[in-house]
Amino acid sequence: MTDWSEGYVSDIDYTHGYYRELNPAHLRFALLAKGLRSPDPDAGGFAYCELGFGQGVSLTIHAAANPGGTFLGTDFNPAHAVGARELADRSGVTNLTLHDDSFAELLARSEGGGMPQFDMIVLHGILSWISPENRGTIVEFIRRTLKPGGVVYVSYNALPGWAAMMPLRELMTLHAGADAGEITARIGRSLDFAKKVQEGGSGYFGTNPQVGPRLERLQGMSRNYLAHEYFNRDWVPMYHADVAREFSQAKLAFAATATLSEQVDVVNFNAKGLELLRQTTDPALKETLKDYLVNQQFRRDLYVRGAIRLPGVEQIRQVRATRFALVVPRDTVPTSITFPVGKVDMKQEIYAPILDQLAQGPATFGDLVDRAGITSMPFSALLQAMVILCSQNWVAPCRSAAGDAGRAMVTARFNRFALDRAMHSAAISVLASPVCGGGVAVDRVHQLFLAAEREGRDPTLTAMAGLRELNQRLITDGKTLTSEEETVVELGNRLTHFQGKIRPLLQQLGVV
Ligand SMILES: C[S@@+](CC[C@H](N)C(=O)[O-])C[C@H]1O[C@@H](n2cnc3c(N)ncnc32)[C@H](O)[C@@H]1O
Repeated sequence: MTDWSEGYVSDIDYTHGYYRELNPAHLRFALLAKGLRSPDPDAGGFAYCELGFGQGVSLTIHAAANPGGTFLGTDFNPAHAVGARELADRSGVTNLTLHDDSFAELLARSEGGGMPQFDMIVLHGILSWISPENRGTIVEFIRRTLKPGGVVYVSYNALPGWAAMMPLRELMTLHAGADAGEITARIGRSLDFAKKVQEGGSGYFGTNPQVGPRLERLQGMSRNYLAHEYFNRDWVPMYHADVAREFSQAKLAFAATATLSEQVDVVNFNAKGLELLRQTTDPALKETLKDYLVNQQFRRDLYVRGAIRLPGVEQIRQVRATRFALVVPRDTVPTSITFPVGKVDMKQEIYAPILDQLAQGPATFGDLVDRAGITSMPFSALLQAMVILCSQNWVAPCRSAAGDAGRAMVTARFNRFALDRAMHSAAISVLASPVCGGGVAVDRVHQLFLAAEREGRDPTLTAMAGLRELNQRLITDGKTLTSEEETVVELGNRLTHFQGKIRPLLQQLGVV
């Protein structure tokens, strides 16, 4: 730990995650689906800020895939800022300003008036891991720099879902604090210690039977992830009502969840829960009640400064004009989904025609329901189907087709850099899509096939060399392949699947 880190873990870098919920097109659709006006990335230039960008994968991809926007971010870990800068520079992203400021320093920087007024401010995985003072700093930064009509995305560990785990986290951090040495080793020993407490017949583990299996899962997780998730000085799971109260000081009102599946009450709550919700009118109580009903652990919320409800016809017009794209092969989309209420069958008379149309390529909602001949179905049912498809990351809300060519120039540069890097690193598991205006998942083997294709090399041999370099093993049907012969056969199978299903999809998404 260092002086500048304010108790935040700084001696171990964070993981290279990509979060699609931070995509400007996703933010807009999440508000639009709830009938709320949102900043529209297709309406011209927009300004976007990410607080605590970590390795900067999401931020750099969003800047690359939205060259018409102006992007700015800060993360006080200089190693993160350097890594993100390199990612942006090497991929030719020029619309991104990166600082290694603390939140307080960024706030001070905004005092000089040199800071843009933002349409979107996002912070993912930050709020629960900082001090109350820093939460206040962020609220003040938002108050000063968010435009009226602007949107804030904030995610955090929620209560009551974390209640049972809080004492386990306390035990592990107390142990790690009393221990000496390098952080990953201390984390390992604190997990072992917690295990011994459990095996010693601890009343806490007995009364909270869900904690033991959680501890088991923690043992298998990346130490980098655990360091940032559990071992900061500050770690505050919060109730929705408390966050809403703090954010109201920046004139923000809760607008919608960015976790799209949670926008559809009928798949989350049983009849009694729905009735309770119907009877509850206070907005903060109602939203908090939802967290009690599902024992919510993690919220991804959208707050707006000045919520404007769209007239019904305007919501329909905007939804019809929004483009969507399939991001997984059509035949991998199942016909049922398990939600908190249980297994739900997806009505094939709605879902099948939508998916069949999307399999032809990205299309506006209006075009695809017209072409599918399902316009006579209620708009609310069609929209709900699209929300569900997007919630599962099978379909993504996209930018409009008009800007594809301009965006593709920058995403191609980003992807070239990412593919070069894939030969020596497994860190980035997404490529940039000009259609989605963000990242789409592409696993390392598929990245290696694409890298080989670009350089006219043999795909299987290239993938084999890439796997060998990182000593990576393929897993198929739950079995880890240990011999080269088995791996070559499996790579051949994956190449066939890639060429038949994945490559055409990536082509539709403008990735290749
Ligand atoms: C849990 S990580 C999340 C990173 C990224 N948003 C993501 O989800 O991948 C939290 C990040 O916030 C940064 N951070 C924590 N406290 C900060 C502060 N006071 N000022 C600026 N950055 C901070 C950390 O360095 C870290 O990269």
